[in-house]
Amino acid sequence: MDSTNQSLKPLTVKVNEAGNLEIGGCDMVKLVEKYGTPLYVIDETTLKTVCSDYKKAFKMYPKVNMMFASKALCTMATSKLLFDEGFGFDVVSAGEIYTVYKAGVDMAKVLFNGNNKSFDELTLAIELGVGRISVDNFFELSLLNEIAKSNNKVVDILLRITPGIECHTHEYIQTGHLDSKFGFDLTQIDEAVELILNEYTNLKLHGLHAHIGSQIFETSVYGDEIEILVKEIARLDEKFGLKLDEINIGGGLGVKYTEADCPPSVHTVARIVINRLNECIKKYDIQPPALFIEPGRSIISTAGVTLYTVGSSKQVPKGKKYVAIDGGMADNPRPSMYQAKYFAEIANKKDNLSSNIVTIAGRFCESGDILIKDIKLPELEEGDILCVYNTGAYNYSMASNYNRVQKPAMVLVNNSQSDMIVKREDLDDLISHDVIPDRLKK
Ligand SMILES: Cc1ncc(COP(=O)(O)O)c(C=O)c1O
Repeated sequence: MDSTNQSLKPLTVKVNEAGNLEIGGCDMVKLVEKYGTPLYVIDETTLKTVCSDYKKAFKMYPKVNMMFASKALCTMATSKLLFDEGFGFDVVSAGEIYTVYKAGVDMAKVLFNGNNKSFDELTLAIELGVGRISVDNFFELSLLNEIAKSNNKVVDILLRITPGIECHTHEYIQTGHLDSKFGFDLTQIDEAVELILNEYTNLKLHGLHAHIGSQIFETSVYGDEIEILVKEIARLDEKFGLKLDEINIGGGLGVKYTEADCPPSVHTVARIVINRLNECIKKYDIQPPALFIEPGRSIISTAGVTLYTVGSSKQVPKGKKYVAIDGGMADNPRPSMYQAKYFAEIANKKDNLSSNIVTIAGRFCESGDILIKDIKLPELEEGDILCVYNTGAYNYSMASNYNRVQKPAMVLVNNSQSDMIVKREDLDDLISHDVIPDRLKK
């Protein structure tokens, strides 16, 4: 294993003397006694090690800006931690902007992305001094210019482009292919640039931005993406005399959800990106641009696990054995959304041999709420604690209150200490936004 994204489990996982799973020096069974289930757990050591993997791997290029993609996980504590580790943030909503702002992040290190940012969101971004806005389409160019003008500001922007690269990941998390809802088509860039240079004088264009997809295991696609971005920068210089000095290649590096997954290391990807960038700088004769990367999943996924309590089970005659847990598609929608696969172990009775093939069913009222199909686990009984690995990314951030179930708490563990960083919702939280109109109160 060369980097943390290639690990199936958090780096501090072990079985302790009690035979229980331990992460960050904390016994997972004791954690459940203290905080309940379902429970998201983030291992600080794993998170900091990933950050250092990235810093080491990319230090070969002098101008790198690492922006954590907040969509993978956005909480104030994790934002503060990542900011302290030297990361900026890719944000996509007023909610994400506000969270990092309240966490004390330097807003100059924040980049606002998204294909349909609203007037209010763009206004908030300008007011709070977000460092870059990646403009996605013609409508947004005009809207942002108007807002910037009325605020007497010149706003620093990138153009999000669709580089026309297909990567082999789930269709819903591919974004760089030509027929995508995100970004300007390559054939639309000139028109956008002409508008910026001639009409939208409250916008200052610094560079180009692309993101080709998520959970990517191929490495050549990053080189292809760099070539397209640098070639465009050189072409825009020749055509418009425009000196762009930033390229943002997005995120996308995959993680190891199951033994079958073999993601490349951060170092391999960094080598490919930097070598190709240096080659392209020479080939297209441009000044070395600042490089922005926006990893989300590969930063936070491995550090996270989710703990559940086992409840009912059902053996279908001549069929599967279903074991139900107290969470599922509302706290982790990825299996039902993308057929995502996960690995799990039992957190108590770790010594027991894996002997049964079972299907882990969620508690939500959908047949599709199956968290893990056909996994080998020891005999499970009501009250056992199941630990599902690699749930740090796109779990809490995609969670819902489906079936009016409260969202779980999140705990940060490190050096045998646990701190709650997101409180468990209670029943009153669930109804706190409901209003019964007076006319119904008879
Ligand atoms: C523009 C952009 N940047 C970065 C990311 C982060 O991707 P990942 O979590 O795969 O690294 C995404 C995810 O969809 C994205 O849309």
